[in-house]
Amino acid sequence: ATGSRKPLVEVAGVPLQAAMVDNWSQIQNFEAKPDDLLICTYPKSGTTWIQEIVDMIQQDGDEVKCQRAIIQHRHPFIEWARPPQPSGVDKANAMPSPRTLRTHLSTVLLPPSFWEKHCKFLYVARNAKDCMVSYYHFQRMNNVLPDPGTWEEYFETFVNGKVAWGSWFDHVRGWWDMRDRYQVLFLFYEDIKRNPKQEIQKVMQFMGKNLGEAVLDKIVQETSFEKMKENPMTNRSTVPKSLMDLSISSFMRKGTVGDWKNHFTVAQNEKFEEIYRKKMDGTSIRFCLEL
Ligand code: PPS
Repeated sequence: ATGSRKPLVEVAGVPLQAAMVDNWSQIQNFEAKPDDLLICTYPKSGTTWIQEIVDMIQQDGDEVKCQRAIIQHRHPFIEWARPPQPSGVDKANAMPSPRTLRTHLSTVLLPPSFWEKHCKFLYVARNAKDCMVSYYHFQRMNNVLPDPGTWEEYFETFVNGKVAWGSWFDHVRGWWDMRDRYQVLFLFYEDIKRNPKQEIQKVMQFMGKNLGEAVLDKIVQETSFEKMKENPMTNRSTVPKSLMDLSISSFMRKGTVGDWKNHFTVAQNEKFEEIYRKKMDGTSIRFCLEL
């Protein structure tokens, strides 16, 4: 079952899937348009959640319209490549504007035209410890990423930035630093969890939409973890088992804050916090490490 797992290949020190690197010139030459909205995340930070929120806002809270396609097909994934299928860039090029696109690329690897066209960027960050746990379980079941090894091994791989899409620290810092120069709405997974209505309202305003209270309440309900876990258009149940074996771990796994406490040993936590302090030195971004 793991026969299709291939080693990652680095671009500028960032490990990526080999097929993406093979298609790198098409990705880098992608032509963004000024009215593109780009959903940007480090993997396992709430990408699918914010995608569904954005789509529900765009569809004025009509959940039936959001059922038109699986979430992976609603917003082209820029760097996605699995020949001979059309690439993420091919799909974006074929999409009518205004487009909503998504990426896990760091600011360093983003196709330059996104900056040149001053697109809107919607970034969601999730605390590193929960992100690591979620990514570990994802790699156990996802046959297009390397086998994560043991939890102890994965801890090292993650803090050293050797997972797909690179270092969590560099990713979050890079996007945080773009806030003043570009149109970036920077959100936190934990805030959406704590106060979904308030955060959804921020997204709505950023998108230039104005929806009433009742519609907002409906969006909160329809984008809850429980709903999205049951929704075949968001829960990855349509992905072939050879790619994602959901019997090993669900895509909609737990959807909670603080699951790291069930995985980190006391020693790992101390080690992590020391690494965190060094790597995040000098940035004004604040994550609560105790969650
Ligand atoms: S991916 O593969 O990078 O696109 O994954 P991504 O969607 O970024 O992250 C998956 C994690 O997000 C959780 N999730 C949610 N949490 C709360 N509410 C909602 N609605 C929701 N939808 C997805 C999902 O369960 C994964 O986190 P873990 O901790 O593994 O459960």
